[in-house]
Amino acid sequence: MLCASKGVLVTSKMEANPTTNCLIEGFTLSIVHESPPVLQARHVGKTVQTSDGPLAILQDINFSITAGESVAIVGASGSGKSTLLGLLAGLDLPTSGTVDMMQQDLGQLDEDGRAKLRGQYVGFVFQSFQLVPHLNALENVMLPLEIRGDALSTSRASASSCLAKVGLSERLTHYPKTLSGGEQQRVALARAFVSEPSILFADEPTGSLDETSGARVIELLFQLNRENGSTLVLVTHDPQLAKRCSRQLTLQGGRLV
Ligand SMILES: Nc1ncnc2c1ncn2[C@@H]1O[C@H](COP(=O)(O)OP(=O)(O)O)[C@@H](O)[C@H]1O
Ligand SMILES: [Mg+2]
Repeated sequence: MLCASKGVLVTSKMEANPTTNCLIEGFTLSIVHESPPVLQARHVGKTVQTSDGPLAILQDINFSITAGESVAIVGASGSGKSTLLGLLAGLDLPTSGTVDMMQQDLGQLDEDGRAKLRGQYVGFVFQSFQLVPHLNALENVMLPLEIRGDALSTSRASASSCLAKVGLSERLTHYPKTLSGGEQQRVALARAFVSEPSILFADEPTGSLDETSGARVIELLFQLNRENGSTLVLVTHDPQLAKRCSRQLTLQGGRLV
């Protein structure tokens, strides 16, 4: 893409979307090297079989997300938000259409292939946290680093620093069942960003948090977005959080509106 603007220097903040500038007689020419999407949904549908017959949870969903964007998925309860997030992260497969992550069609990969891609690029905060019950807070957060083969000492230091960022330095050795819902949510968040993922998915990341902890988590998410260029894809009911995102996708009855 070629843009010209008189006397204005156009720069790009995003590494993934670099802009080349040159100044010619008071005009700035910007050549934007458009980056391919990190996520692309094409005609995505999800239908499940129930005792009452087939139920279409999602229908004909189309959009793409570029590196460094922050996108809020909003909509009423039951509109399909969590299902869509799971499909975008490759935790589940659509029954029609395709999802590409980093230009790879997730439907063409087997479970191991999708797990490898997720390990490389993705952090995920589940609505139900899904912490490992027999591991303490520190060990839960170390897990993604251990899985990718980082040394124990560096994993421990990174996990401990991430838990400090979510205000849980005093809870490193606590097991999930001895933590409050809000504390478990913050451990889940630390686990999701400890590996500095390219794409961070979060399902209601402020859902179980009080106002102060919620504000802290929101700050952290956008700090990751700004400083690491992490793409954020968040399901939220929180209007403050949705407003901070660069874009909102609204689901209604399983369709984008
Ligand atoms: N495996 C499933 N079997 C049957 N119904 C499901 C299944 N998964 C989700 N649903 C239904 O699909 C709808 C959308 O679910 P979900 O994506 O969790 O919505 P949201 O996150 O927006 O609240 C809900 O009505 C839910 O009950
Ligand atoms: Mg949900």
